[in-house]
Amino acid sequence: NKVVLAYSGGLDTSVIVRWLQDTYKCEVVTFTADIGQGEEVEPARAKAKALGVQEIYIDDLREEYVRDFVYPMFRANAIYEGEYLLGTSIARPLIAKRLIEIANETGADAISHGATGKGNDQVRFELGAYSLKPGIKVIAPWREWDLTSRETLMAYCAERNIPVDFAGKKKKSPYSMDANLLHISYEGGNLEDPYWEPEEDMWRWSVSPEAAPDTPTYIELGYENGDPVTLNGEALSPATMLETLNKIGGDNGIGRLDLVENRYVGMKSRGCYETPGGTIMLRAHRAMESITLDREAAHLKDELMPRYAKLIYNGYWFSPERRMLQAAIDESQAFVNGVVRLKLYKGNVVVVGRKSDNSLFDEAIATFEDDAGAYNQKDAEGFIKLNALRLRIAANKGRSQL
Ligand code: ARG
Ligand code: SIN
Repeated sequence: NKVVLAYSGGLDTSVIVRWLQDTYKCEVVTFTADIGQGEEVEPARAKAKALGVQEIYIDDLREEYVRDFVYPMFRANAIYEGEYLLGTSIARPLIAKRLIEIANETGADAISHGATGKGNDQVRFELGAYSLKPGIKVIAPWREWDLTSRETLMAYCAERNIPVDFAGKKKKSPYSMDANLLHISYEGGNLEDPYWEPEEDMWRWSVSPEAAPDTPTYIELGYENGDPVTLNGEALSPATMLETLNKIGGDNGIGRLDLVENRYVGMKSRGCYETPGGTIMLRAHRAMESITLDREAAHLKDELMPRYAKLIYNGYWFSPERRMLQAAIDESQAFVNGVVRLKLYKGNVVVVGRKSDNSLFDEAIATFEDDAGAYNQKDAEGFIKLNALRLRIAANKGRSQL
């Protein structure tokens, strides 16, 4: 028997490699993905080798991640609980998919991951995996082993000759962090007091709005079928687009969020997030839709959005309900083409212009000037009267709405 492990190359997942080998007497296949977390993935190869791993997968999934997961999600304007742009949630199904592909290629009968038993991530990995390969076995060491404190973990390393410098030479952050091209997140440590304000140097991707430049930065985003495809007239691949927007947004103090959210497993949890590029994309996409979408189509999207966001948060990307909603959302984007002009200034994303060959905005009709018969103001009288009919009947029957 063989198990495919989502391996970061860090200390915790290195311990998991050894623990799986010892506990299950199985061969471990490691899988390390570059999804834009900003750390080299190649060093994971030597570390896995040193642990006796023979099949080592290292993949650059950045383009697939943004093209097939982030962009489809942004077509829906998805936001969880009014604020969270789902930066961790949307990366998990891709990892699950790749774990299963590798299990199929290597003939492994199990997968394993380093998520804890208290979080959302375990749910997302495992729901994804079961959906794609119903017979797969899942090993979640954090739910099984007793290496629950730093001391027992270190003792285990010493005993099994796991080099502790696998943790890296960098100053260890007091937070549990997770990063990919869409965001970086911070949880735990002092953040577990929801009244405590994080220190400025916790934030890694953005300057504070106070420290951002005093002159605004203007950008133009070009959209095709609801996806951003050009920046200031230049075509950019999905991953390059997001990376570039992260940089410009971060430089202008955009995309910080401090939130208490409801985890799927039932607890409330405090997290801080930086999503500079995503914050820009959400604003720009809504502006593009504002001139290209029919009113009822737009409102229906807005009603479906919280359901769609929740199912992604809860780990149901590979589900019939997500596919249904995605089909509806994608269908709505056929005319979401054009250009949005934005002003970025001290943490704000301000839409200053939008244009489209598919615009439904009709100046001749909307104008406050004389519209030469395009809209007959007399028609409004009957429109209002009929809509008032039931209100007047109720009032006539003595029903007060006060
Ligand atoms: N609370 C966020 C979410 O559930 C972020 C989770 C971060 N994950 C992590 N392993 N640090 O999407
Ligand atoms: C974890 O379990 O690794 C972090 C928290 C979460 O998944 O929500």
